[in-house]
Amino acid sequence: MTGEILKVEEDSQSPDHCLPRYIGSSTRAVHLGENRRKATHALIDPIFQTSTYTFDNMADARQFEQDHLSAPVSDRFEYGRYGNPTVAAAEKRLAALEHAEGAIQVASGMAAITFTLLSLLPGGAHLVMTDDSYRRTRQFCEEFLPRYNISCSVVPFGDYEALESAIRPETRLLFSETPSNPYMRILDVPRFAEIGRRHGVKTVIDATFSTPINFNPLDYGIDLIIHSATKYLGGHHDLLAGYILGRSELINPLRDSIGILGGISDPHTAYLLIRGLKTLSLRVKQQNQTAQQVAEFLQNHPAVENVWYPGLVTHPDYELGKRLMRGFGGVVSFTVKGDEADAYRVVDALKLPFISPSLGGAESLVIHLATQAYSDLPREERLKLNIPDNLIRLALGVEDAEDLITDLDQALRTGINA
Ligand SMILES: Cc1ncc(COP(=O)(O)O)c(C=O)c1O
Repeated sequence: MTGEILKVEEDSQSPDHCLPRYIGSSTRAVHLGENRRKATHALIDPIFQTSTYTFDNMADARQFEQDHLSAPVSDRFEYGRYGNPTVAAAEKRLAALEHAEGAIQVASGMAAITFTLLSLLPGGAHLVMTDDSYRRTRQFCEEFLPRYNISCSVVPFGDYEALESAIRPETRLLFSETPSNPYMRILDVPRFAEIGRRHGVKTVIDATFSTPINFNPLDYGIDLIIHSATKYLGGHHDLLAGYILGRSELINPLRDSIGILGGISDPHTAYLLIRGLKTLSLRVKQQNQTAQQVAEFLQNHPAVENVWYPGLVTHPDYELGKRLMRGFGGVVSFTVKGDEADAYRVVDALKLPFISPSLGGAESLVIHLATQAYSDLPREERLKLNIPDNLIRLALGVEDAEDLITDLDQALRTGINA
């Protein structure tokens, strides 16, 4: 599981970076992808707050343009929309953690998703996505992409026959999440990748809930992965950013397109992200453990109807998760015994988690999904999407598990009278 020592290649991009070949995930999170010797021998990479870069003379400018054609990623930059050294440092760190050849940091997780799909799908194309996914992603695919004559089929998560039979001659892409939101379904990533390969269709996974500490989808032949870095990667509820990662042959053209579309991310965000990534392994390992303890506690509580966490034997993907993943992250979804009013009372009685629609940071957050993510839908439609009135999603922070459990216990007893 999480403590395992991983085999990594030395970072060929950094000749002065002498990391041993075998290092654990905390060491990787602190050191990978960076030049060991920084400008002025500072320990920390500076924030390069500049919108543009200069050239000594025309020979220098000409040489830059020529070099850029053969090596689009280098230590020199031309203009802020095409690259920034602090952003590049964050990109290198995350690429190393995700076993990717290249990474692109963009303005938000949704920017990463919309940008990737718009770039990879020509007019007339079709994509297949799994249900139980982030609502905005599904809205983008079902409501926005049709404006460009791009259609989308949504298939039940875990039904690989349905996934395969939804593929048509014009299908260009399969999209899924793992673990999914809110039911924490685990994707059979090797099977998903194999289906894509056999049909000549690209596979893209939103791995926000996994983090590179728990899982590396690219190792299983997935073409591109996406992160909302707003969540675990940043880890402190203080930034918005998105990531696209994969092989250079896919990432480099995407980077060129971003230079045209413009949704880049700034050096301050990159700095915060580098800082957050240093504790990624520590935080995620603790969140994995806390979520497991909380899920087991909830499962045995008289006021709780159902709990969804892949570390529970009752979860539909328990066996698959154990086979594929090193941990399952910090999100636990559960239904209380009762209706919307009961769920509201439980949420209101919680003292530690804040009522807020995000996850992955130091503070625990709680959300009543029907109210805060699906309030625009009539109840009948929401129920068809499997979002009942009594469903609560709890995103665990790094507080002590015992304190969170004590708080949950009092809130459930207050709210449900159990
Ligand atoms: C799984 C998943 N993907 C993407 C996003 C969108 O990320 P962002 O809020 O950074 O745009 C979210 C946001 O909650 C998410 O949960």
